[in-house]
Amino acid sequence: MTNDAQPRTQWLGRWGFVLAATGSAVGLGNVWKFPYMTGEYGGGAFVLVYLACILALGVPVMMTEIALGRRGRGSPIDAIRRVTAESGGRSPWSLLGWMAMACGFMILCFYVVVAGWSFSYLWKMLSGGLAGTSVDDMAAIFGANNANPFNLGFWSTLVTIITMLIVGKGVQAGIEKSVSWMMPGMVLMLLIMIVYGAFSGGFGDALHFLFAFNAGSLSSEGMLAAMGHAFFTLSLASGAILTYGSYLPRDASIGRTTLTVAVADTLVALMAGLAIFPVIFANGMEPGSGPGLIFMSLPLAFQAMPLGTLFGILFFVMLSMAALTSSISMVEATVSWLTDNKGISRRTAAWGTGIVLWIISTLAMLSFNVGADWTLAGKHFFDWLDYLTSRWMMPLGGLGVVLLAGFVLNSEVMREELGLSPVMHALWLFMVRYVSPLGIVVIFLDALGIATLEFAVQWPWLLLALAVITLIGEITSPRLKRTLCA
Ligand code: PHE
Repeated sequence: MTNDAQPRTQWLGRWGFVLAATGSAVGLGNVWKFPYMTGEYGGGAFVLVYLACILALGVPVMMTEIALGRRGRGSPIDAIRRVTAESGGRSPWSLLGWMAMACGFMILCFYVVVAGWSFSYLWKMLSGGLAGTSVDDMAAIFGANNANPFNLGFWSTLVTIITMLIVGKGVQAGIEKSVSWMMPGMVLMLLIMIVYGAFSGGFGDALHFLFAFNAGSLSSEGMLAAMGHAFFTLSLASGAILTYGSYLPRDASIGRTTLTVAVADTLVALMAGLAIFPVIFANGMEPGSGPGLIFMSLPLAFQAMPLGTLFGILFFVMLSMAALTSSISMVEATVSWLTDNKGISRRTAAWGTGIVLWIISTLAMLSFNVGADWTLAGKHFFDWLDYLTSRWMMPLGGLGVVLLAGFVLNSEVMREELGLSPVMHALWLFMVRYVSPLGIVVIFLDALGIATLEFAVQWPWLLLALAVITLIGEITSPRLKRTLCA
């Protein structure tokens, strides 16, 4: 049974939360997924939409999720139910919590496979298994690594076990502290590779590819992918950030923490792009090579650069750690819901979740070998898990969260939790009421072929008018109330 009055575990101060949330956000999404998606969707335009989505959707949704978690002090399902009830809202809103929990779990089912790649490449680096001199050699090594289900299964099982050991023992805090050396370490490794890339001959092409805006390359599918990735990379709408927020002390500033996490996450992604694409262009590799992109390109750089083996080992150590600090955050919502509601211990909850995870992730792992022909509408099970969560469930969950906060909850609740100045609060309100929902809906409609983006050109005026109304309302309403009550 839940005991609402029971004090909930809290982070050790503001940094505890920042480390954990950064650990959750920075992961394979930044170093593995961002570069390969940028490659697939044509570069600069994708990057621009992704950055716009981080600002217009990611930041407001993250602030809201942390606030909901802290106010509701529970797993996404319990927290949303409590906060909504407090404002006299209806319980169906807690469906958002269910969807978030399902989403976090589904992501985990393919995430452990990719984390397994990172661990296996660390092993290859250590054991000299990455000797190869061309893109073809590297593609063959990546292919061989996937072809044997026992090999691939070994690594994803290992990731599953480590994740559940950490979560079951409740020692996340210890692991999350590693973010304080891992993040600077990762940034340093990426910097070294960027400097190497700057001399490798592919740097100009990489810069152009990443930052030259070419509207022609912007497909509806690419816009949807960029929006989904903004949610994915910030660990939103998947229970992770909301549940972490439920452990946040009252006095921590939600606005500042959110900005810290979002900036760190974005920097790592952009740096990963700058580190990887020079290698790709210098070696004449195809940017749209798919999920194997970093595993087929980076080892080539490690082969060629001075102290490459050492750097390669350090790089994969950090990538594997970054993957773990993300994977533990994906389990947290489920484990916290099970322990709060089912009266079972943390350890039982973690291992129970782990067994189900192992079964489903094994099916996802088989997409790369024995199940190569098991496709539905051209997608493997692995791809379906990624597609459903990133393209649809997370943006839909994000939409739900902003609508709940913008229109359903009592405005005092959010004002109290966020503790922003009137102007900043008005800005937040304006984002969650208008910019974020309209942005999400328009990208959805565009992807479904129901509407095109052209009418969005009319927006600036509409949005400006709404902004002014929100600002005036915000600044005057508390004052008005005070005057009326006096
Ligand atoms: N943000 C993580 C990454 O970029 C992935 C993640 C998604 C973590 C959802 C938690 C929840 O790797």
